[in-house]
Amino acid sequence: MATNATETVACDVKDISLADIGKRRIEWAFQSMPVLQIIRKQFIKSQPLAGIRVAACLHVTTETANLMIALRDGGANIVLCASNPLSTQDDVASSLVRDYNIPVYAIKGENNDVYYSHIMAALDHKPQITMDHGADLVTILHTKRKELLEHVIGGTEETTTGVIRLQAMAKEKVLRYPIVAINDALTKHLFDNRYGTGQSTLDGIIRATNLLLAGMIVVVAGYGWCGRGVAMRARGMGANVIVTEIDPTKAIEAVMDGFRVMPMSEAVAIGDVFVTVTGNKKVIVREHFEKLKSGAILCNSGHFNVEIDLETLATMASSRKEARPFVEEFAMKDGRKIYILGEGRLINLAAAEGHPASVMDMSFANQALSAEYMVQNQSKLEKTVYSVPEELDKRVAKMKLEAMSVSIDKLTAEQEEYLAGWSEGT
Ligand SMILES: NC(=O)c1ccc[n+]([C@@H]2O[C@H](COP(=O)([O-])OP(=O)(O)OC[C@H]3O[C@@H](n4cnc5c(N)ncnc54)[C@H](O)[C@@H]3O)[C@@H](O)[C@H]2O)c1
Repeated sequence: MATNATETVACDVKDISLADIGKRRIEWAFQSMPVLQIIRKQFIKSQPLAGIRVAACLHVTTETANLMIALRDGGANIVLCASNPLSTQDDVASSLVRDYNIPVYAIKGENNDVYYSHIMAALDHKPQITMDHGADLVTILHTKRKELLEHVIGGTEETTTGVIRLQAMAKEKVLRYPIVAINDALTKHLFDNRYGTGQSTLDGIIRATNLLLAGMIVVVAGYGWCGRGVAMRARGMGANVIVTEIDPTKAIEAVMDGFRVMPMSEAVAIGDVFVTVTGNKKVIVREHFEKLKSGAILCNSGHFNVEIDLETLATMASSRKEARPFVEEFAMKDGRKIYILGEGRLINLAAAEGHPASVMDMSFANQALSAEYMVQNQSKLEKTVYSVPEELDKRVAKMKLEAMSVSIDKLTAEQEEYLAGWSEGT
């Protein structure tokens, strides 16, 4: 593994001279992360992670940098690698190494081999806590690096897709240590997945294409937490939004939220821009490519780059070329042109900066508090997937409200009694 930066901090980053820009951007994000700031101050005093080795496999962004700094200041001995080949902010990676002495293995645009070699390098750290985003770190640990499992106390998982993978492992009884599912916290998915993905996905599409969304037909595949956000924000910009779903309840919700709902096979004939955000695979496939209008733009904001069947699209195209950074043109044999953004990888991280810091503030507050919880409760936890304890989730909500200078009412004793009882009906 290349050690290309400082003499003391192991790393594989693109260019250490980018650190100045990275440091300014990390500091900018810090200002919008008041909850993490409070936790960091508490961590500095109480050192809940003293000496604990943490391997984090997260998108290497300014917000993640601030989480890494908070954990380090809480005593953790931390290493960071990328959770997606295209999501790394190279300037941030460099600054973490040079300015904060945190080992980082991440280069934007790394190929799959390098991506996995970076995960291996993070695992060489012999983590006691894993912090994952998509469960690649945990999967490698359970398959190729089993000898390291004995060191692990527990782990956290950030996103929907990772939680689904880990729940499958727990169900098959192959999960070898406890995991806290950060995504399950209300202060995570209600805000990060909805408002964060909603805004940043459109940000990615716009930065990549400079499209005017007003008047366009935007098709959103999946009306989960992320899909709701994307659909809501696309409508806010004047797009005419169509939703596709496989779940009848979500489909009704989309209809009642005022969106047109139809199968993808119908939407492809009329859509201008397509966003997949299902966490599933092969959502847009050959039969759909065949019907797309010329000029259709396709992107994905779900965790893995498997929602659009790009392998098949490649076989259907007569040629392909870069039209703009993060925009690839596929010229079809019948003369149509189809555009794929960000190689079908998370468009908000590939072509933009991911979620805004103020929403990651809550997600990463849950990460930090869950790491502390894991260390404190290690003897009690079983080898399964836990939700973030409600008490921590509520604490994050309270801290965020305070930081926003928003006050709310308190239950009176009489109201508490009323809500707890069943005898009073009239
Ligand atoms: N871009 C980001 O920064 C970001 C942020 C958070 C989560 N994610 C990822 O986005 C994905 C979705 O997350 P979520 O929290 O919204 O999940 P979710 O489970 O709330 O929603 C997914 C929705 O997709 C629907 N769906 C599944 N297969 C489908 C298909 N073939 N066609 C149409 N709809 C289908 C499901 O019925 C469900 O309603 C996951 O992969 C998650 O990890 C991305």
